[in-house]
Amino acid sequence: MPTVDPRFSVLSEDFATDPYRYFAPLREQAPVHYEPAIDSYFLSRYRDVKRVLTDHETFTTETLQVRAEPVMRGPVLAQMTGAEHTAKRKIVVRGFTGQALQDQIRAIHANAAELIAPLLPRGRMDLVNDFGRPLAVHVTLDVLGLDKKDWRQIAAWHSGVAEFITSIVLTPERRRHCMDCAEQLEAYLVPVIEQRRRHPGEDLISKLCTAEFDGIAMSDRDVTALIINVLAAATEPADKTLALLFKHLIDHPEQMAQVRQDPTLLPAAIAETLRHTPPVQLVPRQAERDAVFAGSTVPAGATVFCLIGAANRDPDAFAAPDTFDILRTDLATARSFTAAAQHLAFGAGLHQCVGAAFARAEIETVAAMLLSLLDQVRYTPGVRYRETGLYTRGPASLCVDFTPAQSTPEPH
Ligand code: HEM
Repeated sequence: MPTVDPRFSVLSEDFATDPYRYFAPLREQAPVHYEPAIDSYFLSRYRDVKRVLTDHETFTTETLQVRAEPVMRGPVLAQMTGAEHTAKRKIVVRGFTGQALQDQIRAIHANAAELIAPLLPRGRMDLVNDFGRPLAVHVTLDVLGLDKKDWRQIAAWHSGVAEFITSIVLTPERRRHCMDCAEQLEAYLVPVIEQRRRHPGEDLISKLCTAEFDGIAMSDRDVTALIINVLAAATEPADKTLALLFKHLIDHPEQMAQVRQDPTLLPAAIAETLRHTPPVQLVPRQAERDAVFAGSTVPAGATVFCLIGAANRDPDAFAAPDTFDILRTDLATARSFTAAAQHLAFGAGLHQCVGAAFARAEIETVAAMLLSLLDQVRYTPGVRYRETGLYTRGPASLCVDFTPAQSTPEPH
């Protein structure tokens, strides 16, 4: 096993190319890794990461005030605490569960069918750029109740917002670009919010506009921030998980065959994808007081990054952690999309992902459709696989060849 060089940096090219190579040495030799260039601590052991995410007294989300609030144009859910957090989180959850979820699954199916139809006869596609990414944006716009004809523009603004939140270091030029994107997105949302206040519908924006917190309707600033929060939080990890799921199944043809034969295994395959290659790799927190991990002190006021990918591959938490195995017995599928999940891909504690059940429904619906429409899915010859991203991570593209099956997408 490689040792952690004293000059090792999570900001290095090497780490960006393949962080997974470094996780075991980090967990074993530098479980509290200090990064002087950004004055931050990186934790990699499962129990330490879980402790940071669930000890809300010692570790807060204060850091999001500078990492997210400027581009969200107001406070995001993950920054809130106490009664305000509980109440606003409930409003958002209502938009993704019960009857709303059933309607959304139909819309997900329709969106996927429309996007895949022109790609089928070609026998070749980029699963990320031709399909997964536009699909995730379409689906999120449907949930929010935003006009899909504007999707390219909204996707461009969204990528500026996402860049701001997920960049560890940002040049002044990129920062300006990200802020421009956020300001234009906010300006786009102003008349939409005004209209939904007057004529509410069934969409999430209407629910946010009409919901009351402490007997008072939310301000336009609060509603705007929650819309951008959902747009940013829902889109990227979902499209990355779908692509990673297919990458793992292509790499493990015997598991692809098992899922094709028994589609009830799909949720287990999605859960194992989230454990093995979580699309959200870093979760930041701020230490409110000194905290000791493995004999090292993280001082009060420090920024702490949880390395979710490293924690999910800790042998103290999962057997043979580097092996992708949809049948593993130490990852209960039914729990994997709930607060009791053993993997940490959705975080843990009070700020654990509100969209976990929705993400499962989305990825399961779309993956089942793709598996029924695409036979013999394989990598396009000569195309090199590459992953990008330190904060959120996934394939830059996933070019596949396939044989179209003799069916067309069924209406749902
Ligand atoms: C596979 C897909 C997804 C993954 C891996 C994922 C991951 C995460 C993680 C790690 C957090 C915790 C952040 C923290 O503790 O600071 C989080 C929070 C959140 N996620 Fe997701 N997410 C996914 C899909 C979604 C979807 C589809 C939605 C919306 C429909 C969503 C909405 C949110 C929101 C609003 C929060 C903040 C919750 C709070 O602070 O109370 N996510 N997500």
